[in-house]
Amino acid sequence: MDISKEIVTKAKEINGHIDAYLATGIENKKLGDAMRHYPAAGGKRMRPILAQVVAEAIGKAGDKAIPFGCGIELIHNFTLVHDDVMDNDLMRRGIPSVHALYDVPTAIIAGDALFARAFEIVAETDVEPAKLPSLMKLAARSIFLVAEGQQDDMDFENIPAEELKEEDYMRMVWKKTAVLFECAAEGGAIIGGGSPEQIEKMKEYAHMLGIGFQIWDDVLALTGNEEILGKPVGNDIRNGKRTIIALHALHNLKADDPRKKTLLAALGNADATEEQIKAAIEAIQESIDYAKNASVECANKAKAALSCIADGPEKEFLSGLVDFAVGRSV
Ligand code: IPE
Ligand code: IPE
Ligand code: MG
Ligand code: MG
Repeated sequence: MDISKEIVTKAKEINGHIDAYLATGIENKKLGDAMRHYPAAGGKRMRPILAQVVAEAIGKAGDKAIPFGCGIELIHNFTLVHDDVMDNDLMRRGIPSVHALYDVPTAIIAGDALFARAFEIVAETDVEPAKLPSLMKLAARSIFLVAEGQQDDMDFENIPAEELKEEDYMRMVWKKTAVLFECAAEGGAIIGGGSPEQIEKMKEYAHMLGIGFQIWDDVLALTGNEEILGKPVGNDIRNGKRTIIALHALHNLKADDPRKKTLLAALGNADATEEQIKAAIEAIQESIDYAKNASVECANKAKAALSCIADGPEKEFLSGLVDFAVGRSV
């Protein structure tokens, strides 16, 4: 199976639905344009695809999962709009970020509006009426956890690395990133009529997928190609992000190691030059390799959780999605 191709095919179908959802119910043109800015620029659509494939794998209910999945994708897009304000990133999906093109107030409102529109769409999911409140609650709780993860991510920038453990990072990325993957998979499993055990296993799969995905994202944020990635490379260093890479380097480089000095000159230094950033990345190659291994370990655990579903094209896809998540260049 050519997983990248499969993802693109499935994303095209999702895009049609998202375009339709964002074409109605919005009167203010500027707000509508700001809301559509990221969704119209593409994105991998991993979360709605995940919801759809899990629902199909468990109960042949892929189509029924589309509104829920699209709602989760819009929630993801809302978090990206606000995340770019927080991270002061001026580019996303190869285009100017919402606050760079408009302004911060418009980005705040566009994010909020996507959040609201997402719930209108989730509410359209065609499931037994008794299941709808669990889907709504699942989405709401997930967004709450993302908010906590995002707050942790910001707070950690100001906490000395010695006071942070790798498990603090793991919990932070679980909340800020993996939770939305879990939400997509759990929602898909509920829509597919899965047993409590199946729902739990799919959540476990998405948990490991999501953490592996974010670790790989942190690797790409230092080693990726900006043109392909569509977002800035190196800003995690300037922002002093406590990624698994930065923590590993700060915990393991000895005080007299010149590489530590090189890293500290750039880490958290908003004015660091391109050369300083490059040198810092060079200095922490061992930690980048450590992170790559950690993301592959997560990937293996995610695949192991797939034992709860029958062999077939969906299972093959979900396994391929894991390899894609931790090997992607985009
Ligand atoms: C980016 O997510 C934000 C993170 C959680 C790391 P994606 O890499 O899924 O972004 P798009 O939707 O494909 O642009
Ligand atoms: C993404 O965090 C998590 C959310 C948007 C909730 P990052 O800040 O690490 O992701 P990118 O690198 O900007 O996509
Ligand atoms: Mg960011
Ligand atoms: Mg961020």
